[in-house]
Amino acid sequence: MEYKFDKSLETGHAKIDEQHKQLFVTLNTIIEESEQGRGKDEIYKTMDFLNQYTIMHFKTEETLQKEYGFPGYEAHKKCHEDFKTTVKELTQALIDKGPVKELIDAAVKTVGDWLVTHIKGNDIAMAAYLKSKGDKGV
Ligand SMILES: [Fe+2]
Ligand SMILES: [Fe+2]
Repeated sequence: MEYKFDKSLETGHAKIDEQHKQLFVTLNTIIEESEQGRGKDEIYKTMDFLNQYTIMHFKTEETLQKEYGFPGYEAHKKCHEDFKTTVKELTQALIDKGPVKELIDAAVKTVGDWLVTHIKGNDIAMAAYLKSKGDKGV
């Protein structure tokens, strides 16, 4: 299994697209590590990176939204906050129960599906707004 970053996920905002691509790369790394039966330390390390990178990415988007007065800021931020909680819970479950393949697969699917839905349903419109306000996207 692999998450593909295709054209339908492009926001046209270079910086945001770059970060989304990195999120997909990280998800695919977790899938690979799990399939290859790597040790839990390695998988936890990648999960931790995913957590940190997600937080950084959301901050990037929220800062840009504030800077350009995006009207959907509060609602968008709420989506991010809820998702951060979900990722934290998924990570904690993995730590509690060990890196069981079924749990990893479920966590990756939850994160991957959320990202696809959020990018298509929220980020693309947000990026269009930022560009309309003169953001160069770098
Ligand atoms: Fe995003
Ligand atoms: Fe977002």
